[in-house]
Amino acid sequence: MAKAKSKTKTSYVCQSCGHNAPKWLGRCPQCGEWNSLVEEVRRPAGRGIAARPAASAGSHANKPISIADAGNADDIERLRCGIDELDRVLGAGLVPGSLVLLGGDPGVGKSTLLAQMLQGIAEEHGRILYASGEESVAQTSLRAKRVGATNKGLTLFAETNLDAILDHALEMRPAVLAIDSIQTVHCDALDSIPGSVGQVRECTGRLMAFSKTSSIPTILVGHVTKEGSIAGPKTLEHMVDTVLHFEGEGTSPYRILRAIKNRFGSTQEIGVFEMRGSGLCEVLNPSELFLAERPEGAPGSVVVATLEGTRPILVEVQALVAPPAANFGRRTCAGVDSNRVALLLAVLAKRAGLDLVPEDIFVNVAGGVRVSEPAVDLGIAVALASSAYDKAVDGKTLVFGEVGLAGEIRAVNMVDVRLSEAAKLGFERCVLPEQNLLRLESDHGLKLIGVSNVKEALRALA
Ligand code: TYD
Ligand code: MG
Repeated sequence: MAKAKSKTKTSYVCQSCGHNAPKWLGRCPQCGEWNSLVEEVRRPAGRGIAARPAASAGSHANKPISIADAGNADDIERLRCGIDELDRVLGAGLVPGSLVLLGGDPGVGKSTLLAQMLQGIAEEHGRILYASGEESVAQTSLRAKRVGATNKGLTLFAETNLDAILDHALEMRPAVLAIDSIQTVHCDALDSIPGSVGQVRECTGRLMAFSKTSSIPTILVGHVTKEGSIAGPKTLEHMVDTVLHFEGEGTSPYRILRAIKNRFGSTQEIGVFEMRGSGLCEVLNPSELFLAERPEGAPGSVVVATLEGTRPILVEVQALVAPPAANFGRRTCAGVDSNRVALLLAVLAKRAGLDLVPEDIFVNVAGGVRVSEPAVDLGIAVALASSAYDKAVDGKTLVFGEVGLAGEIRAVNMVDVRLSEAAKLGFERCVLPEQNLLRLESDHGLKLIGVSNVKEALRALA
């Protein structure tokens, strides 16, 4: 049976050179690029500036306004879901009219997080439209009930047709519209299958127009491809206001929510959750969690204080220096940048007389955390030295500081919050940059050792 099609026409546009073709081709005839043609809706002609008669300029409802009249960011009332870990990552809640993309590997818990979030919003703000093309109403409601998302305002809609979803949303005017997932919805104007680049882009574009004009915040769930980016084009991430990534390591029950992009908040904040039988629970003190299985007294293990946004997190850096398996030293790093490790190895060799360059080096941050702050430099260097000398660092000692190329230890920011977190967790000593120590007002009950270069730091910990 022929599909009933709307009047809109589609064409195929090359993503590389912009060439327009009436039908799909494996290779662009203009630039020769393979697989670059993507289906797009052809908009009616005559919308360009040149085509518009001058007299029609005043007929648009939308008008430019002065920035002074444009309202204040603080005046915007955000929708909180009551899950602090999530509200903080969003930047104090959902902004009206915003489009949020929640991405993550299959099975990580995106739908679970979404159900719990929508429950929280429904408690405060009433009606929610939850369109799920991934699962039937029965499956979605089974999960929702398991995690306690039973608010009457939660309306489930097992629909994949975007026009039907938008029609319902316009009629219902929910506090939030959620689509699980963007790869399962399709719009009739395009012939390509759901999940294709053209469909994902067209659907996201229309959802963006919907949320901006109706002020209804919209949450899209998106899958992550094997390469690690959210499936569909990178343009998807450009189109939305906020991109959240839900991450988890293998069989670990712990999950980290990160903002990769946020037009209305910081991208530094993280939220930590634990997946339990009854849904996701907030982990309010991640440091305790990340240090729980620390092997005290083991060489190569050092606790560092890092910041995720404004929040101090203590993590364990582990290093293992082993005889090389081949005739050159290999580096394997998880949770830290391998270039940074290479730099620290060079500094140790040149400035501290510890040449580990020919050895095999393994560096790992326990708990699947990723640290990118330079403040962890000294911790990594000390862990490497500790493993090389086979001498453990005292378990109640904390280390942080940025390492420069001359082997100098540079000051880091927000030292007070790092120290108070360490004191809370029972640490007794801290090796920190001398420059920070000089400016510090309180020792937080810790024995503080200021160091100004790597050699001094290794001596202080020997
Ligand atoms: P789900 O939210 O369906 O993942 P996604 O939408 O990202 O694909 O959750 C998947 C896993 O979470 C599933 O393997 C079962 C587990 N789970 C729990 O452990 N506890 C729970 O309460 C729920 C709802 C799921
Ligand atoms: Mg799901």
